[in-house]
Amino acid sequence: MKIVIIHGQNHKGSTYHIARMLAEKIKGDIKEFFLPRDFGEFCVGCTKCFMESEKKCPHYEKLRPLTDAMDEADVIILASPVYVYHVTGAMKTFLDHYGYRWMVHRPQGSMFRKQGVCISTAAGAGMKPTNKDMVDSLFFWGVAKRYQYGVRVAAVNWNGVSEKKKCAIDKATSGIAKKIVNNSKHVKPGIKTRAMFWAMHFAQRKGFNPCDAEYWKSKSWTGKKRPWK
Ligand SMILES: Cc1cc2nc3c(=O)[nH]c(=O)nc-3n(C[C@H](O)[C@H](O)[C@H](O)COP(=O)(O)O)c2cc1C
Repeated sequence: MKIVIIHGQNHKGSTYHIARMLAEKIKGDIKEFFLPRDFGEFCVGCTKCFMESEKKCPHYEKLRPLTDAMDEADVIILASPVYVYHVTGAMKTFLDHYGYRWMVHRPQGSMFRKQGVCISTAAGAGMKPTNKDMVDSLFFWGVAKRYQYGVRVAAVNWNGVSEKKKCAIDKATSGIAKKIVNNSKHVKPGIKTRAMFWAMHFAQRKGFNPCDAEYWKSKSWTGKKRPWK
């Protein structure tokens, strides 16, 4: 299996170690990117990706290695420490660049056959909204199976995490890895993703944005064809 990890920070703290631990348990080829080291541009709000083409984004080429790695991966891991109850700014600006890939616009067909994991750690609280920041993108990209793991580490770095907590993390990551491996042979989107796609396929028949409508038509998704079949 191909695994890509997008780290929402440059440093190797608790979030890094947990994401890495999970990826190693899935046992595959691991590619990883660190934000903002490998991509740190802010969306300029030109909306060219939505209205014309993602290739017109001023950051398209810079983002491309990360985009290609995600498109090739079977498993996408998004990991971020909690910063004031949400993802890091670096993770947020990364995700902003894929708004055009949301199901309401031009989702990539391969996403509907992938699994995705959101991992966050906090000293005390905020894992839920932080994982939601990331899982919203996975869902609207069409990622078929999504897992979330938030850990209250009660520490500001990995060395400060207690042995008891590390044991619990080890157990939890083994459980998620097992599910991912077991599901890998038959990855199909669940009812929520199918329902969203169904609603979008009607919207795209009317075609409020010509660029999106043309895309859906070219994939035959406005008819009976589906990207997971
Ligand atoms: C800017 C900043 C904001 C933070 N905000 C929160 C927060 O809202 N809630 C919390 O419990 N911890 C917060 N923390 C602590 C980290 O989330 C926590 O230590 C996390 O496990 C760090 O992960 P890392 O070791 O991967 O960097 C914050 C830390 C920083 C640097």
